[in-house]
Amino acid sequence: MWAYLNGQILKEDQAFISPLDRGFTFGDGVYEVIPCYAGKLFLFEDHLKRLQTSLEKTFIPFTDDIQNLDKILLELQKRNKFLNQSFYIQVTRGTDVVRSHQAEKNLKPTVFITSQELQENPFRINPNKKGIKVRLEEDIRWHRCDIKTIALMGNTMTLHDPSKPSVDEIFFHKDGMISEGSKSNIFVFYKGQVFTPSLRQNILPGITRSYIIKEMQKNNIEVIESEINLEKLLASEEVWVSSSNKQVQPVSKINEYILPIKEPKDSMWYKVLEFF
Ligand code: PDD
Repeated sequence: MWAYLNGQILKEDQAFISPLDRGFTFGDGVYEVIPCYAGKLFLFEDHLKRLQTSLEKTFIPFTDDIQNLDKILLELQKRNKFLNQSFYIQVTRGTDVVRSHQAEKNLKPTVFITSQELQENPFRINPNKKGIKVRLEEDIRWHRCDIKTIALMGNTMTLHDPSKPSVDEIFFHKDGMISEGSKSNIFVFYKGQVFTPSLRQNILPGITRSYIIKEMQKNNIEVIESEINLEKLLASEEVWVSSSNKQVQPVSKINEYILPIKEPKDSMWYKVLEFF
């Protein structure tokens, strides 16, 4: 696979960074995951804007690569050939001479981009496929989940807890309210209404989340952005997750709660999938 590193397009297995890169030593960086369907970048402008916002919020300077991001992605798309691809873009504060919390002045950010083939959504191929399995966990993450940081220990640690059952996704909750998945946003269909945790909570403003809300509103389906307590979640008719590389995927089980089985044609998640 071809990749991009600091101005060069090269084979991914030829891309090397220093172990003193701050992304490696401090998780000091931000990222984006951008899907590309049949050669077309999906919601690219929204992703670019969020990347710029993440850089501003973390005081990591912009670089020319970010200004030319679409050109770089399309060049990689051409070379990697897959019809559908998911691009991973990572920008760190740069490489220190010696490890130090305070970076040297005028450090040059490290920009790494790679892509992988984007598999077709399994729930589009088989809408009757059993939904994903989810485990509930206390949200122990930092207070700036609005920033798309590469420092994802809080999101990933529990997936490696040998004492816990392995699942497809983790749903975080705090003070009895759900926030988001470890790598997705959450939608709940409860008593005929669609809910999703509001951005006032400590969650990532998902690009797919906002696209779904807009599309639902265009189709006169109200989405209530609000707090959702665990009782509502565990009594809901449908739950689904959204993300750039998963689009929309239904949930079949949350801890011991088994969601009701419904025909896709009668399901809200399946209606939402039609927006992609
Ligand atoms: N994850 N919340 C979190 C914590 C995420 O990591 C993601 C995306 C989302 C969904 O955001 P979006 O719709 O903009 O992709 C919500 C990406 C896909 C990842 O880490 O692979």
